[in-house]
Amino acid sequence: MLPETYINEVEKRLRRTGRPREMVIDVMLEVQQFYGWFSDEALEQTAGLLQMHPLELEELATFYNYIYRQPVGKYVIHVCDSVICQMTAGYESFVEHMQEKLGIQMGQTTHDGLFSLLPVCCLGYCDLAPALMINQTVYGELTAEKFDQIIEDLRREK
Ligand code: FES
Repeated sequence: MLPETYINEVEKRLRRTGRPREMVIDVMLEVQQFYGWFSDEALEQTAGLLQMHPLELEELATFYNYIYRQPVGKYVIHVCDSVICQMTAGYESFVEHMQEKLGIQMGQTTHDGLFSLLPVCCLGYCDLAPALMINQTVYGELTAEKFDQIIEDLRREK
């Protein structure tokens, strides 16, 4: 259940703006951060909070890559699969390497719940292709070795 203080704060913002659609993505992301993913329960609560129809939120969640309708790992690895990154020499083998290193395919989460691998459209770092983003941090000019180092560093942080 969302904390009472958060519910009050959203209601205050809603009264101030009077436009739930303007704040819907922010609130969805905040609720997702609280639960770790955007479950049916989270969707219903958010819809109630913003006085919107749950289907409107479902549509947004389907469209928006950073709303997770299934449980994800602590670190969500968004791998750019747009054209500039794909044209980088060795892109295919790099993607295979990531999957092998983590023991999962795209769209899956490791058994320890630490990492999810998800494809994403251009991250806006084409000059650093191939690029990926883990939570809010972007990594570019990736190689298999660089990826392994990132993963080992994150494993140590957990
Ligand atoms: S195409 Fe990959 S970051 Fe732009």
